[in-house]
Amino acid sequence: MVKKKACVFISGSGTNLRSIISNSRDYNFPINICLVVSNNKKAKGIIYAKKFSIPHMSLSANKYDFEKTVIKTLNEKKIKLICLAGFMKILSKKFIREFKGEIINIHPSLLPMYKGLNTFQRVLKSKEKFTGCTVHFVDEKLDNGKIIIKKRVIIDKKDNVDTLKKKVQFQEYKAYSSAIRKIFSSG
Ligand code: GRF
Repeated sequence: MVKKKACVFISGSGTNLRSIISNSRDYNFPINICLVVSNNKKAKGIIYAKKFSIPHMSLSANKYDFEKTVIKTLNEKKIKLICLAGFMKILSKKFIREFKGEIINIHPSLLPMYKGLNTFQRVLKSKEKFTGCTVHFVDEKLDNGKIIIKKRVIIDKKDNVDTLKKKVQFQEYKAYSSAIRKIFSSG
């Protein structure tokens, strides 16, 4: 199989990045991670790029300079898929248009419910019985694009933010790679 070139954008711990890299080492997985981009020089997740010898760039620049540099690199490297995984910077409309249909994101809720930040706190406060995660294409509105896959998690009465986060993230690791497989299997 000829694998497509992909990159992962992170800002923090990078556990989704770790999971995608690990799955991408499978011969049948449709992408290779050729670049890791971080908008935070101190992002813990950079360690996974180093560990697997994947080129990485960390830029703490303003949005304009960040995107200008990143767009140039993505085009040079012929990147065909951008995976946002805990990337906390909102991309500009220009950037999203430049890579239309090629940017995906993971969000820790069952979209369209609980868009935005602090999803676990809000879900618990609303006494929901279920939550989960969603992988979706990125469009110009926040947490809004076409949904690729969702995975559901049952909320226990005893759950708190930490336990719920752990359960949702466990599903995220499966969801992200399933979503990537799905994108490329449907052509
Ligand atoms: C994930 O929970 C994801 O849903 C959200 O940010 C978190 C990133 O975690 N967008 P990690 O950096 O992959 O560990």
